[in-house]
Amino acid sequence: VSIIEGVVTTLGPGGRVNVAPMGPLLLDDDFGVFLLRPYTSSRTYANLKEHPEGVFHVTDDVELIARAVAGDVEPPMRPAERVRGWVLTGACRYFEFRIEDFDDREPRTRLRARTVHSGRLRDFIGFHRARHAVIEAAILASRVGILPLEEILGELRRLEAPIEKTGGASERRAFELLRRHVLDAAGGVSLDRVEVRTGSRLHFGLLAPWPGLEREHGGAGLMVESPGIELVASRAEGLEISGPHAERVRESAAPLLDDARRRGAPLAGARIEVRRAAPLHAGLGTGTQLALAAAAAIDRLSLQAGAPPADAVELARRAARVPRSGIGIHGFARGGLLVDGGHAGRDGGATATPFEPAPLVSRLELPAHWRALVILPPASKGLSGDAERDAFHRLGGLPAAERAERAGGICRAALLGLLPALAEGDFPAFSRALWDFSRRAGEAFRAIQGGSFASGAIQAAVELLRAEGIEGVGQSSWGPAVFAIVDDAEKAAAIAARARARFSLADEAVLVTAARNRGADVHAVPKARP
Ligand SMILES: Cc1cc2nc3c(=O)[nH]c(=O)nc-3n(C[C@H](O)[C@H](O)[C@H](O)COP(=O)(O)O)c2cc1C
Repeated sequence: VSIIEGVVTTLGPGGRVNVAPMGPLLLDDDFGVFLLRPYTSSRTYANLKEHPEGVFHVTDDVELIARAVAGDVEPPMRPAERVRGWVLTGACRYFEFRIEDFDDREPRTRLRARTVHSGRLRDFIGFHRARHAVIEAAILASRVGILPLEEILGELRRLEAPIEKTGGASERRAFELLRRHVLDAAGGVSLDRVEVRTGSRLHFGLLAPWPGLEREHGGAGLMVESPGIELVASRAEGLEISGPHAERVRESAAPLLDDARRRGAPLAGARIEVRRAAPLHAGLGTGTQLALAAAAAIDRLSLQAGAPPADAVELARRAARVPRSGIGIHGFARGGLLVDGGHAGRDGGATATPFEPAPLVSRLELPAHWRALVILPPASKGLSGDAERDAFHRLGGLPAAERAERAGGICRAALLGLLPALAEGDFPAFSRALWDFSRRAGEAFRAIQGGSFASGAIQAAVELLRAEGIEGVGQSSWGPAVFAIVDDAEKAAAIAARARARFSLADEAVLVTAARNRGADVHAVPKARP
């Protein structure tokens, strides 16, 4: 069974002809019997319900198809011979049909058509890439309001290449008409309001915290769904921010807005409402996710119609988050359990600012039933900003041979432990490797933290989790967030309840969450659904 895209004419109220592109299913070798599948919302369906006759046309006139999708058309036609209807005289072949069976129980109906007369008007010219591209574009354009606008615009961009390379004037006109139709129709689904949702980042530790090795830093981490970040942005005159961390969002959003204006974006201002946000400086990478979320929202609001949205690296650059947020940037883009390879060694740690985020060298997904248990003990805030930079400078004292050996141990825990165990879904091996990794990575900071953990409260949380029989435990970044990976949601919830009781923590300070195996969601919110 195959589908042939063509054009159907039907008769409407008052004998008015309706011309609609449609792709019937062939039920035999030619068009003896075929299945039309108009949606119940279409005029074609309404017409056939009243008067079950029409004419199906095979054509290579894609401009006609584009015009029929974009609006009403009145191509040259003559009356049909055996049915009450009209034949498009510009088509290649036509099939006058009668509907012999109506199945309209579903919105996408199945109307069995039998050809009662057919004719040949001219030859089909042959395969043509640009014409096929116009057909694809026409189908996309007929789905405005059904498919997300970004998806349609993205697909249209991909179809430009064959139009450019192989199209003539007619295909170009057709394509342009469809593009304009999509953008006009987008008036109802405009980019005036954007929702961004991203997860939180657990950082398991650095591969090479010391200067002077082949690469600097590098690390492993995991994106999780909660606590995460959710914000909604819309066009406004100035910059209005509300919700948690409003000041912090303003710090990132103000330069982003200036930058958008400098690039000529027609955006006066933005209203950003933070609906949900993880705590800052807790080891959850909130600063980066918040800045990237604001950057993504402002990028979408400032996008010229049809232009591609910026990717996560570009957003990070605009938000000035590039140098130290490898896992956070790749996590915003793709989610998952990630390893970044740090930056190329810069003799003794000279502080040139890198312009690319550390490259992603591995990305795996956690099995869907595994959970991350996150405990946020009170008090100590994690290091960040200047304090974090100073701390790194204090690590330089270790002899070179020992740095190499220790980094070797951490890398081995990642490459021969964590990653293969996860790839095989071997939970016990993964847990052992995660503990090994996080202990070695934590030891690197003993001089700064005074131990492998940043505080007594963190140590206590780690000990409780280990005593519960969970091996894969660690401190995320500088803490205070403590994580454990558990292979069962109920078990994780039970342990979380005991941890809350034991440390007198609020509900939101101990959470059980799934890994986030996808990047941030950035959606235009329809103003009014069509
Ligand atoms: C090549 C092509 C094939 C299409 N096939 C169908 C189809 O099988 N069923 C349908 O309901 N719409 C189909 N559409 C979309 C309709 O043409 C479109 O929704 C149109 O607005 C319906 O027109 P009408 O309301 O005048 O009947 C197709 C569009 C194109 C460009």
